[in-house]
Amino acid sequence: MGNFCSFTFLLLCLLMISQQMLALPTLPLHTKLRWIVDEDGKRVKLACVNWVGHLQPMLAEGLSKQPLDTISKKILSMGFNCVRLTWPTFMVTNETLSSMTVRESFQIFNLVESIAGLEVNNPSFLNITVVQAQQEVVKNLGENDVMVILDNHVSKPMWCCNRFDGNGFFGDRYFKPSIWLEGLNKIATMFNGVQNVIGMSLRNELRGPRRNDSIWYNFMQKGAETVHDANPNLLVILSGHDFDKDLGMLKNKPVKVSFKKKLVFEVHWYSFAATDGWINGNPNDVCASQVQFLRDHAFFLLDQGYPLFLSEWGVNLKGDNVADNRYSSCAFALAAELDLDWSLWALMGSYYYRENVKGMNEFYGALNLDWSEIRNSSFMERLSALQSPFRGPGLSDHEQYNVIYHPFKGLCIPKSVDAPVVPAKLGSCVQPEAWSYTPEKNLQIKDTYYCLQADGEGKSVKFGTDGDCQSPSAKWERITNSKFHFSTTVENTTLCLDIGSNNTIVTNQCKCLTGSCEPATQWFHIIPSTIGYD
Ligand SMILES: *[C@@H]1O[C@H](CO)[C@@H](O)[C@H](O)[C@H]1NC(C)=O
Ligand SMILES: *[C@@H]1O[C@H](CO)[C@@H](O)[C@H](O)[C@H]1NC(C)=O
Ligand SMILES: *[C@@H]1O[C@H](CO)[C@@H](O)[C@H](O)[C@H]1NC(C)=O
Ligand SMILES: *[C@@H]1O[C@H](CO)[C@@H](O)[C@H](O)[C@H]1NC(C)=O
Ligand SMILES: *[C@@H]1O[C@H](CO)[C@@H](O)[C@H](O)[C@H]1NC(C)=O
Ligand SMILES: *[C@@H]1O[C@H](CO)[C@@H](O)[C@H](O)[C@H]1NC(C)=O
Repeated sequence: MGNFCSFTFLLLCLLMISQQMLALPTLPLHTKLRWIVDEDGKRVKLACVNWVGHLQPMLAEGLSKQPLDTISKKILSMGFNCVRLTWPTFMVTNETLSSMTVRESFQIFNLVESIAGLEVNNPSFLNITVVQAQQEVVKNLGENDVMVILDNHVSKPMWCCNRFDGNGFFGDRYFKPSIWLEGLNKIATMFNGVQNVIGMSLRNELRGPRRNDSIWYNFMQKGAETVHDANPNLLVILSGHDFDKDLGMLKNKPVKVSFKKKLVFEVHWYSFAATDGWINGNPNDVCASQVQFLRDHAFFLLDQGYPLFLSEWGVNLKGDNVADNRYSSCAFALAAELDLDWSLWALMGSYYYRENVKGMNEFYGALNLDWSEIRNSSFMERLSALQSPFRGPGLSDHEQYNVIYHPFKGLCIPKSVDAPVVPAKLGSCVQPEAWSYTPEKNLQIKDTYYCLQADGEGKSVKFGTDGDCQSPSAKWERITNSKFHFSTTVENTTLCLDIGSNNTIVTNQCKCLTGSCEPATQWFHIIPSTIGYD
């Protein structure tokens, strides 16, 4: 797109970008080192949302609340290009369950209100089987250009996960490997030829006391071959130990499969990997240690040349969960830096029936309780920059440059035309300014003499040139363990980059360098990109 996106054509260009995002890529997908690419070799960034269909009723949630087509269109309008749709093994391996109509399935749990809702919003679903219903959901997503990853979430239909629920590891009460393979084969076969189904994840969140590497390799490789044999178009997605937090064994021993360019790994990351840390510790320290853990247990796979799909992450969207709030800026920063493929937990505003509760609210859900509106529009705005790629094959010929990204706002410093715009403000990441962080510790607009210079506490930063850039107030240290604070000195006072009113970029006293507190407005991250710069 590069040169075309000059200022004059910015609007047209934005239009092209948004239209590009609306169409399906040329399928099927395959992998190219750490990237997922389409038939043209162009990167496809998975920006998915999890949609549950693995609970006792065995139907994709929300169909009692809104017509299916309305939900599909909502998914696309929120900027997601893909759904990770969860399913339980027994839905296809147990004849009693697979032959059940949706109405029968709901009647078992006396879900009278949900049945009434289905009669209003999706009446045709009541009289088809739960398996046909899943096919209908996938088909409608396809008609709306939404890609689908089918995720084997549990064996026995139920809420997931705890260590002792019988669904945790090969050999558990409900997790007989032969039945699991049969289920994978059935689903992979059933969706062979359904274009928008681009991948299958073999099993969600392995866990529990049976954890064992050699068993993991044995069955994961068998599962991968089973899916690939039945449907060679699919990306085959493998999860790790301990609730999909640990793929560390792959450091020393790769997975062996007979096929190429289809293998993807997945990892999950929530605040509850370190709830006490986020609440009681300093977020700079906790973020740094969480990121290090993830690098050691999962992200090294990117360097080995495999895509890594952050297939579950998310926060309580009410905004009152301290751990989630602190975690979220760390997660946004990392997802942007590594430009990960990801799937948000979750789409659902509510559940038909979860853990014995009818109509349970999902506070992590992108949609509200009745699935009619976005639950938290400021979160969706924050998410939008992560829905487009920052880099990857086939997207741009430009050499890599740096973007200044603000994870708390989900915004970047946008590109200015000639001289930098004053005061500098956060804005869209679609056409970000290109920066260099020089060895002299200047934050310099790439290929210019302009450098960011502090002007005093509470004041907007200014743009110095030449000699100004030698001044201490134009030298920026990346401090704390997170490296997200940029500190400088003005008249012997240490100040940090921060956000002022109207998203202007200012300097303030550095905050939350130690202790349990909220540093995130002062968190800035330098991330590599090749997109949108000319
Ligand atoms: C199939 O599912 C039904 C209903 O949950 C259950 O009663 C039955 O035991 C299952 N059959 C097998 C072979 O697991
Ligand atoms: C539901 O399906 C059954 C069996 O296929 C059929 O006999 C019945 O008429 C259908 N009912 C409705 C309301 O479509
Ligand atoms: C893992 O499973 C294998 C094969 O069943 C067994 O030989 C081995 O002892 C197990 N390892 C551990 C650590 O339990
Ligand atoms: C959305 O999230 C923000 C930030 O976490 C929070 O302050 C706000 O109250 C939330 N809005 C709603 C409607 O829940
Ligand atoms: C900065 O500190 C130095 C050494 O402490 C002192 O000599 C100088 O006067 C201070 N400058 C300002 C502007 O406060
Ligand atoms: C913020 O922006 C609005 C609209 O551009 C403007 O009216 C207002 O004066 C600005 N506020 C500050 C404090 O700069």
